[in-house]
Amino acid sequence: MELKDEVAIVTGGGFGIGEAVCLKLAAAGAAVGIADINIKNAERVAGLVTTAGGRALAMKVDVMSSAEIKNMVQQVMDTFGRVDILVNNVGVSPKGPKGEGLRTWLISDEEWDFTMRVNLTSAFYCCREVIPHMMSRKSGKIVLMSSSVGKQGAGGGTAIAPYGASKAGVINLTFTLARELASQNIRVNSVSPGLVEGTMMRASASPESNERAAQKIPLKRFGKPAELAEAIYFLVSPASSYITGEILDCNGGMVMD
Ligand SMILES: NC(=O)c1ccc[n+]([C@@H]2O[C@H](COP(=O)([O-])OP(=O)(O)OC[C@H]3O[C@@H](n4cnc5c(N)ncnc54)[C@H](O)[C@@H]3O)[C@@H](O)[C@H]2O)c1
Repeated sequence: MELKDEVAIVTGGGFGIGEAVCLKLAAAGAAVGIADINIKNAERVAGLVTTAGGRALAMKVDVMSSAEIKNMVQQVMDTFGRVDILVNNVGVSPKGPKGEGLRTWLISDEEWDFTMRVNLTSAFYCCREVIPHMMSRKSGKIVLMSSSVGKQGAGGGTAIAPYGASKAGVINLTFTLARELASQNIRVNSVSPGLVEGTMMRASASPESNERAAQKIPLKRFGKPAELAEAIYFLVSPASSYITGEILDCNGGMVMD
């Protein structure tokens, strides 16, 4: 119970990696605010947490709205009285009509703006709201979700330019926040997944293309949401107390830098 009495907010917590993070943090003793645009899934995950004896609050939140994020943090403060951990896990990767990646010159203004707002601007909005609460306690842990694409660029498969650019932005935001907040005992890190099974993001790809992609990974398989949750848990647990400004690769060796 290393996170006993702590309170976490997980965005996009209703499915995929976010769901696994909620279950992991709750199992470690944290109360979890589960924010998702899909309230049914957030409630489902909250049900799993409470059935296992944990504390959870499901919230319908569209992370594109700064007002909804402000309200999300207030709800968590009203319910649990503090915020120790933020995992801004939410992320989207728009696809073409047949689920394929989009070439940069075919991307619309709307697709570009949408991806930036969900993946990068949401991180800014969430951090802006939780940081004052963390500063008042001189303690906090923030994990932002990046991607191997944020380091290497899009490969022309399902990954596309605004996705990679937004994830590179997340990496840079992590560095800046880590420097700004170190004196406040607030650690800011990022996790960089490669390809993760059982997520909405992989659902549109065919089994054959998923298998081809898996064979290019040194560990020859996709990651599991629970494996990403372990990496995130490490970054919010006392085991990482001397780590800030780190971009933790969790990708089976897909990216080595
Ligand atoms: N799955 C992968 O292979 C992969 C690879 C690299 C990075 N990532 C990153 O990991 C994170 C989680 O990915 P995942 O694959 O588990 O995602 P997913 O698509 O399986 O789930 C995302 C969750 O976010 C929610 N969501 C989407 N838009 C939202 C919005 N505007 N407001 C609130 N909630 C919203 C969805 O309802 C869903 O519950 C993302 O940041 C993603 O970019 C995933």
